[in-house]
Amino acid sequence: MKLVTTKDMLLKAKEGKYAVGAFNIDNVDVMQAVAKAAEQIKSPIIIAVSETALKFMHPAYIRHVAHALEEETTVPIALHLDHGKTPEVCKLAVDNGFTSVMIDASAYEFDKNVELTKEVVDYAHARGVTVEGELGAIAGIEDNVIAEDKYCSFTHPQEAVEFVKRTGVDSLAIAIGTAHGAYKFKPGQVPQLRFDILDEIKEALPNIPLVLHGASSVPHDRLETFNKYGGNMPEAIGIPEDMLYEAAKRGICKINVGSDVRICYFGELRKALIENPTKFNGPTFLVPAKEAVTQMVIERITQVMGSQNKA
Ligand code: G3H
Ligand code: ZN
Repeated sequence: MKLVTTKDMLLKAKEGKYAVGAFNIDNVDVMQAVAKAAEQIKSPIIIAVSETALKFMHPAYIRHVAHALEEETTVPIALHLDHGKTPEVCKLAVDNGFTSVMIDASAYEFDKNVELTKEVVDYAHARGVTVEGELGAIAGIEDNVIAEDKYCSFTHPQEAVEFVKRTGVDSLAIAIGTAHGAYKFKPGQVPQLRFDILDEIKEALPNIPLVLHGASSVPHDRLETFNKYGGNMPEAIGIPEDMLYEAAKRGICKINVGSDVRICYFGELRKALIENPTKFNGPTFLVPAKEAVTQMVIERITQVMGSQNKA
């Protein structure tokens, strides 16, 4: 099936009150593993490629592998640039067959964020590609919180309205308490998401799909495998799955998962390498690693996002 944009995919998710998963891939193996999961449970899916992965894998390779995905899959798949930091890299992705790009200019002050985002929207829309923008700081609860401002570094609903109006983005990544990476919270901290702010943004922007970044859960069993075979991630804490489920039910249409994919893939790779010291053929190590990713993606979709059978 031909690759699709995230536009209809996310509007459909909004309507159906479920979320579509955007899973970060760093190589072709993981790309296949994620697509296989979607195919098995008949779910739409977003293949998320970071700026680093885009450069590491090379745009031309991604473009051609995407064609292979089109040949081999029957579910709607979007090829998405994740956290493009400049209009140039977003344009590079658009020119190389991506159907969706994220321009993340959230580190800039509001007007500059609007300006850069608008530049990407104009370029991408003229070529049939959808755009995700970001407003607010996606950090962790360990970051400084200014007590008198309810929104602190979270996304402000009224600013979100102005941002969408001025930029024309198709979807918006909001900050409600998640953070990137596996170490989202300090040991002893209770993960919290600001569902009250999510509700306010949703009310203020009823027609725009909202996106949750930094949504890895860092499941205990995956972390255990990673650490048992030589890894050392002792205090990694993610977003509990029940909170992600709640976020999807309350209007989040796209959930980004990167760390869990990597912990899962490299945990199984570590295991296979340690358990097979005399072997050196690829499939011995790579097949179980790919299968673990497929399994994790299926679990996350069926237990949290609810997009199975929505293809
Ligand atoms: O853009 C990618 C995701 O926001 C990654 O989130 O660090 O929780 O896996 P994660
Ligand atoms: Zn992110």
